[in-house]
Amino acid sequence: MNKILVTGGAGYIGSHSIIDLLEAGYSVVSADNFINSDRKTYDQIKAVTGIEVKHYDIDLCDSLDLEKIFQENQIAAIVHFAALKSVGDSVENPLLYYHNNLAGLINLLRCQEKYEVKNLIFSSSCSVYGNADQLPVTEGTPLKEAESPYARTKQICEQIIFDFLNVHPDQRAVILRYFNPAGAHISNLIGESPHNIANNLIPIITEIAIGKRDRLSVFGSDYPTRDGTCVRDYIYIMDLAHAHTRSVDYLLKQEPEQATIINLGSGTGSTVLEVIHSFEKVSGLKLNYKMADRRAGDVIAVYADYSKAKNLLGWSPQRGLDEIMSSAWSWEQKRNN
Ligand code: NAD
Ligand code: UD1
Repeated sequence: MNKILVTGGAGYIGSHSIIDLLEAGYSVVSADNFINSDRKTYDQIKAVTGIEVKHYDIDLCDSLDLEKIFQENQIAAIVHFAALKSVGDSVENPLLYYHNNLAGLINLLRCQEKYEVKNLIFSSSCSVYGNADQLPVTEGTPLKEAESPYARTKQICEQIIFDFLNVHPDQRAVILRYFNPAGAHISNLIGESPHNIANNLIPIITEIAIGKRDRLSVFGSDYPTRDGTCVRDYIYIMDLAHAHTRSVDYLLKQEPEQATIINLGSGTGSTVLEVIHSFEKVSGLKLNYKMADRRAGDVIAVYADYSKAKNLLGWSPQRGLDEIMSSAWSWEQKRNN
């Protein structure tokens, strides 16, 4: 059977997307080097779906190891999640980010060329828009200067894919620009379990509430937004995961354009303070937080116009911020037990 290769499949979005792909009847092979995840994730996927996912414990930057996957499996499409993703860390360690995120993609495209795998779905990010002039951002909103090396790796990766498509007219790619995913699978058997200390706002909030950390620093209170804190578009993880299944359907079962860029967000912008208040509402707890300096690499405000995803993939988000916070909080409590 033709398989879907999911790189970074032990990670947060990759693992939830594997569940959605399996539930839609796709056969999946995963690759991960566990630099920010744990091989136990595959047990969690099995607990949810009953399916043991074949996986390769490899670094995508090792081209020989990567080739083995293509030699041993008939791959119909690739969903490429594997990357380093911390904005702040990328400011501190730019070369690590450029090497990992670019070399991984280039090796993968070389395998696509050699083994004639025609379909790629790439995990990009709303960070490619930088401080956009117009909100909500559409796929046509001009990209501004990247605010961090991480964001720049995504801009460059997108460009590499376009250049690759230029010389391979039979290749197809969907570039998904995610906004801010959060929450856990509805079963509460799997959720966000970063290897390193959490870097994103919502898991940081739940870690503080459970007592793993002392206090949240709100990065910046003097931004030109409605309450002075940054605005982001939080999207429920299973809504995001499902968009990948729809994208695979689009590539394999429809007549796709050669390159398709799609925003995946909820369409609603929330400030950091609004996220905190949503958490306090659903948990009934008071969160310990203080205002702090701006964080390097942050954009001021970004949220999505997702009408292209709706029209092309028939996709729209099903859950809002309170449901996301409630799901993230249930998962943190479960994880702690
Ligand atoms: P994650 O860190 O949980 O998952 C990434 C996975 O890739 C991890 O399991 C990691 O071990 C693996 N990996 C990294 N480099 C690798 C390499 N060289 N070889 C093999 N495996 C490697 O991150 P995530 O939140 O699931 O993000 C998935 C993708 O989505 C990334 O490309 C990220 O940049 C992108 N993205 C994430 C967010 C977000 O907020 N989580 C937002 C926009 C875009
Ligand atoms: C960024 C990128 C996103 C990317 C993701 C991967 C942008 C617009 N988004 O998300 O595309 O793929 O990283 O990690 O660049 N915050 C605090 N205190 C904290 C942590 C965060 O106030 O301790 C604030 C941040 O300043 C930000 C918001 O919370 O305004 C969300 O931060 P975070 O969860 O780290 O995600 P982004 O940086 O938006």
